[in-house]
Amino acid sequence: MATAPAKLILCGEHAVVYGRPAIALPLADIRATATVTPLPGGSGPLISAPDLGGQWRITERPDEPLSGLVMAVIDRFGVPPDIEITIRSAIPIASGMGSGAAIATAIVRALLAYSGQTLPPAAISELVYESERGYHGTPSGIDNTVVAFEQPIWFQRRPSLPPLIEPLPIGAPLTLVVGDSGVRSPTRLPVGAVRERWQADPARYEALFDQVGALVEQARAALATGDAVRLGPLLSANHELLREIGVSSPELDRLVAAAHAAGALGAKLAGAGWGGVMLALTTPAQAATIAGALRAAGAANALVTTIAATG
Ligand code: PMV
Repeated sequence: MATAPAKLILCGEHAVVYGRPAIALPLADIRATATVTPLPGGSGPLISAPDLGGQWRITERPDEPLSGLVMAVIDRFGVPPDIEITIRSAIPIASGMGSGAAIATAIVRALLAYSGQTLPPAAISELVYESERGYHGTPSGIDNTVVAFEQPIWFQRRPSLPPLIEPLPIGAPLTLVVGDSGVRSPTRLPVGAVRERWQADPARYEALFDQVGALVEQARAALATGDAVRLGPLLSANHELLREIGVSSPELDRLVAAAHAAGALGAKLAGAGWGGVMLALTTPAQAATIAGALRAAGAANALVTTIAATG
């Protein structure tokens, strides 16, 4: 059995696809799980995903990205193929919480553990990246990285080099409220729309991405000193830029406004947008009030999570 965490992009989504830095956080207490059990000889690999659309032999759905991932890991690492891989996940799908990357990471870890092997996080992240490409074409790689490394990260793509990945010092614990708009939006749709707009008006979008990048740099400094009061307005400013980039939605804007009205230090959509989740930064004392305000404003779910300080 192996698990992997959900994730949130704290700031920098979309601009990260265009080479600006972004910050992502693992959510240790919301996880996907994969369990591998043996099947009779000759059965071949079977994926059982009761929460996610059933059960299939990977030969029946070879084009499904998870089937491809399982085949690749079995072939490359000599994992015995007569197995059932059972997947369970507490992470809502298509909501910006990295459900796909967490499920894929849990699967890779479980297959390796079943065959007595381990791999460093960077190698697991690469395998997961390949399967993420099956879902949305040109992912930046931030999701698989934060999930496989399982620590707060600074992430930046670089031309003709592997992405820059740095563990991020967090000076004091952060309290976040995650509000789910209840609207499912596959990542590739807003990502594709932003690409079209960028192609139509590169100067405007490059300037917006530069502004996002500058905020992310300031957020890094605020995180290092554990200064949530300074971080909050940076997150809210990032939301405004995401609105201008065109990836917010009326539901997300309503939740962000409700978080501010309930006393959040800052709030923004998190992930690809058009649906999925938003996050609010808060003091621990105000967290339950903000969660209640988000539910009252229409959130399908609102949960409080803490990001631990790091060394
Ligand atoms: O998978 P999501 O919804 O958290 O969004 C990914 C973040 C984007 O920057 C929008 C896309 C990417 O590949 O980085």
